[in-house]
Amino acid sequence: MSGGRAQATAFAPATVANVAVGFDILGFAIDGVGDRVTVKKIPEKTVRITRITGVPGANEIPCDAITNTGGVPLLNMIERCQLGFGFEVTIEKGITLGSGMGGSAASAVGAVVAANALLDQPLSREILLDLALDGEALASGARHADNIAPCLYGGMTLSEVSPVASVIELPFPRDLRVVVVNPGSRLDTKQARGVLKREIELKTHIAQSRRLAMFIAGLCESNYEWIKRGCEDVVIEPQRAHLIPGFAAVKKSALGAGALGCSISGAGPSVFALVQGAKTADTIRDAMIRAFAESGSISAQGWVSEISSRGAIVL
Ligand code: HSE
Repeated sequence: MSGGRAQATAFAPATVANVAVGFDILGFAIDGVGDRVTVKKIPEKTVRITRITGVPGANEIPCDAITNTGGVPLLNMIERCQLGFGFEVTIEKGITLGSGMGGSAASAVGAVVAANALLDQPLSREILLDLALDGEALASGARHADNIAPCLYGGMTLSEVSPVASVIELPFPRDLRVVVVNPGSRLDTKQARGVLKREIELKTHIAQSRRLAMFIAGLCESNYEWIKRGCEDVVIEPQRAHLIPGFAAVKKSALGAGALGCSISGAGPSVFALVQGAKTADTIRDAMIRAFAESGSISAQGWVSEISSRGAIVL
């Protein structure tokens, strides 16, 4: 093993992917909730995950590195960088499993960011993005960076994975707030992707493209009217809504309480709403929690956050 730091811990934030109109390409980071990953150098050129703690069910996550979203990127890092050492890893999950708040991405990003702090020649963010994507692919069955990118870079991101993984950091109005409510049930990303049709009609494509363009223009110009008109998913949400008991009522309650838009967070079952300014955000969160409770999800939990400019950091 070479010299330098022997151990590092990274915090990787929860994220909201898709953001209604940007399936697999748009996402943003939120404050306060996230995973902590501690990585230690070991002489063997392998990855040993010794402990996964935190939210209920964390102990169900496989510790075998080859089947773990944090383990696979590190195995690939050892191979890609021809490292003369390996990593021992512990993960403290702060993001509820199967919640649609980017838990798999956070463990992958946390692992590569912590491990990077141990390298004599740290890797660029683009390479870390590419490595972390290997972990996301394991969890969702597809390579998409809409959780990985905002988790690593912070803020609101537009990402692509082909021909190479890359990220555009989008501007957003500073008083834009987000409400995220997790009903407390779990939804498997592969299942939520499995219900999607392979093709869409031309008129639906046009309707969604217009909204995506309007949404991004609204972010760039701090134009809340455009954000509002753009924040409506006519492709994915109608196909997944039935997987989330109470979704229609929760969305109605958010819009009724003044949200700009409301849709599924990532693959669900969490639901997010965008809000202009902090004043009404708590009321909107409470209305959404109440609507979930009335639909039978009595342990729903909600957060109000800024779009967090801070991506994963070494603590
Ligand atoms: N874009 C992804 C999806 C995010 O909605 O399936 C969850 O991994």
